[in-house]
Amino acid sequence: MAPAAMVILLLALLMPTTLCSRSGPSSKHGHGGHAKRAPPPASPSLPPPAPMVPVAPQAAALVRATCNSTAYYDVCVSALAADPSSTTADVRGLSAIAVSVAAANASGAAQAAAALANATAPSSQAPLAADGTVQALLRACAAKYGDARDALAAAKDSIAQQDYDFATVHVSAAAEYPQVCKALFRRQRPGAYPAELAAREEALNKLCSVALDIIALLNSPSNNS
Ligand SMILES: *[C@@H]1O[C@H](CO)[C@@H](O)[C@H](O)[C@H]1NC(C)=O
Ligand SMILES: *[C@@H]1O[C@H](CO)[C@@H](O)[C@H](O)[C@H]1NC(C)=O
Ligand SMILES: *[C@@H]1O[C@H](CO)[C@@H](O)[C@H](O)[C@H]1NC(C)=O
Repeated sequence: MAPAAMVILLLALLMPTTLCSRSGPSSKHGHGGHAKRAPPPASPSLPPPAPMVPVAPQAAALVRATCNSTAYYDVCVSALAADPSSTTADVRGLSAIAVSVAAANASGAAQAAAALANATAPSSQAPLAADGTVQALLRACAAKYGDARDALAAAKDSIAQQDYDFATVHVSAAAEYPQVCKALFRRQRPGAYPAELAAREEALNKLCSVALDIIALLNSPSNNS
């Protein structure tokens, strides 16, 4: 479990975007007279405000519409469509499916890191020593991906309890663990970061991003039921 300090840090980091996506005012720029120009948006990388998701008569259409509001449409559709229950799920159900797919991906990455560690020769007789050997780093990475899987399991519980703020915190934490793995390599064995882990890091990061975007739909007032 993440220490309380980390949760607080994550909450602090998440606050601006959470508030942004919550308020989402349809403000009118009707102030006539002034020639003063509005400044450009603070960050062009911010996702657009969550669109209204229709109360879908068609489930596949709901998957498409929901994925349309995520940063990685194709990743989202293939992740959700792989689960047959996505055809009858509402947006909350879709968020739970997205989190489950991400958890499975984290679990697979943990296995892959452990297998890489097993295939790597230890540099000493103490296989678990935190001595910066590639094998020790790979074992640390396997543990981090295991932590990511656990955080995603916690996120699924939060969604079941309709606690979408905590679901957001847990998924955000899950996305951070692979970054810790990469940072360990950068600091101790730059250049030895395996391509397979880089690919897995990217895949899990996209799945977490998709899950966060879907949870954000649940957090917006227009979709609370
Ligand atoms: C996806 O979004 C675009 C623009 O935001 C819109 O034109 C399109 O109709 C949407 N597609 C679906 C399936 O909702
Ligand atoms: C997880 O990520 C891997 C690595 O890129 C990808 O090939 C795989 O399809 C993903 N697995 C799931 C269950 O989404
Ligand atoms: C790594 O080796 C350990 C000890 O031999 C074994 O228990 C474990 O299943 C192996 N893990 C993988 C992913 O191969």
